[in-house]
Amino acid sequence: MAKGRESDMPPPELWEGFFEPDGILEALGCGVSPGDVVEFGCGYGTFTIAAARRVSGTVYASDIDPTMVRATIDRLVRAGVRSVVVETRDFVADGCGRPDASATFVMLFNILHIEDPIGLLREAHRVVRVGGVVGVIHWRHDIETPRGPSLEIRPRPAQCRAWAEKAGLRWLSSPELPNSPWHWGMKLGR
Ligand SMILES: C[S@@+](CC[C@H](N)C(=O)[O-])C[C@H]1O[C@@H](n2cnc3c(N)ncnc32)[C@H](O)[C@@H]1O
Repeated sequence: MAKGRESDMPPPELWEGFFEPDGILEALGCGVSPGDVVEFGCGYGTFTIAAARRVSGTVYASDIDPTMVRATIDRLVRAGVRSVVVETRDFVADGCGRPDASATFVMLFNILHIEDPIGLLREAHRVVRVGGVVGVIHWRHDIETPRGPSLEIRPRPAQCRAWAEKAGLRWLSSPELPNSPWHWGMKLGR
């Protein structure tokens, strides 16, 4: 397999001006329950560090792009954050590599526009524990946005919910994301 379509990143300073990671994680309930986090496609580690600071367990993050993995590791080292395991991995071909029902919080952030979103949601369903949360964010389609995948492949909330239900997850809520005007968010449960 390969990198999901339209998954390349702009420079980090630009990317990280588009949202507020900690507010998003708070809104989606990251850190409410103790346990581990799994992140699919960590990019520059924008949400990895913020998640690690909120949870008692380990954050398992992966990305298919070694440059992104390197950027995330460098950032973790600079920040002195040690509770994160980052690896280069193709989660479409190989899954996330974590045991069944082992995560309290799963991050599917800016990634469900890939070719097989239901397959990725099934992998999220496999790894999240009962009572845990799969958090989804993506670019809005109902306003003009400064970035984001093409509108034809940009998932809408209702579509995402239908895919999630096919994958065995259930919709919990669609919270507002503070200081992140270009994105919508959704909490899914098992
Ligand atoms: C649009 S970026 C989002 C990064 C991060 N989730 C965020 O919101 O800041 C998508 C990331 O997913 C990674 N990615 C795409 N396809 C992947 C795959 N099959 N396996 C692992 N990572 C993948 C890309 O390399 C990229 O870093």
